[in-house]
Amino acid sequence: MTRQEKPEILEQGDPAEDAKAFRRTLGQFATGVTAITTATPDGPVGVTANSFSSLSLDPPLVLWSIARTSRSFGAFSEAAHFAISILGENQIDVSQKLSSSSDDKFNGLEWSPGKGGSPVIAGALATLECATETVHDGGDHIILVGRVLHHQRFAGKPLLYAQGQYGVVDEHPAFRTLANAAAPVGDTGPALAEQPLTTLLYLAHHYSSAAFDQHRREENISLAQSRILSELRRRPHLSRTALIGRVYLTEEKVNEALERLAQRAHIETDAQGLVSLTESGHAVAASIRRRVTAYEAEQFAGIPEDKLAITRDVLIRFINGLAHPNETDHAA
Ligand SMILES: Cc1cc2nc3c(=O)[nH]c(=O)nc-3n(C[C@H](O)[C@H](O)[C@H](O)COP(=O)(O)O)c2cc1C
Repeated sequence: MTRQEKPEILEQGDPAEDAKAFRRTLGQFATGVTAITTATPDGPVGVTANSFSSLSLDPPLVLWSIARTSRSFGAFSEAAHFAISILGENQIDVSQKLSSSSDDKFNGLEWSPGKGGSPVIAGALATLECATETVHDGGDHIILVGRVLHHQRFAGKPLLYAQGQYGVVDEHPAFRTLANAAAPVGDTGPALAEQPLTTLLYLAHHYSSAAFDQHRREENISLAQSRILSELRRRPHLSRTALIGRVYLTEEKVNEALERLAQRAHIETDAQGLVSLTESGHAVAASIRRRVTAYEAEQFAGIPEDKLAITRDVLIRFINGLAHPNETDHAA
């Protein structure tokens, strides 16, 4: 066992003796930021809250807590409905407005009425329109449990809050090193040139897929969805079974991805159960293809054309050699 250095305790003690220190300890837990709103006869009411948490999938329940001292306490404790807008990284202004002491928090805020008229904030990363399920005592707060009646999710990154500050999501440095490493096998490992070709193929696949993750996120699609779109772009009218065999992922992942693509109207299934891309599916597939082309141009810049042609030729031979005899048209 390695001896770890004992970390220095910055603060400790009884929360009752130093509330600020207690707050700072709680602030070590990073959260997202939500805008929670409700409609009253006197107009919309809203607060910024990071006490939001998911609670139950079935039934669909979420919770959050509001301070008894909050001016909005009365409105929320009596509300039949409330809306939760999960804020995106560009919505610090919304967070600041709704956490301010202004009497006109909604001035300049763009919103539309959701269930029960609760304001749903425009540009949020996700929204949850809720009916108040139960209200519980929570010391100087009350805990509101909401039943989600309608939810929406949009592309983008969340606004974060930790240690009393706003933050943004960034890839973990350990992952970033992995994804962008120029030489994946470190100094201490055997030289890449000594590795079997199959190891190099595996590493090239692993690192390029990780690096391409960002592009998939920007297109708001998963790896499985991306593979399905690309496969259907090359071969329309594929059965589910054929797709499962071609995208090298589990049946569960493929079915989940197909369901999601169908919901977004990127694919359609004909009477024979064969799957094809719709117009919007073609557009996303083409956009990914453009990203792949740009990514390759960047990665292979400076490598002479004849060397790339040899690499391409070797890979095609290798793939066709491995493939089932009647599948040897991968060069097409
Ligand atoms: C990031 C952040 C998170 C917050 N989370 C909560 C919360 O979960 N519950 C709460 O009662 N107040 C929370 N607040 C404070 C309220 O947003 C703030 O007190 C608000 O102005 C209350 O408004 P009101 O007095 O008009 O009701 C938070 C503030 C910020 C900036």
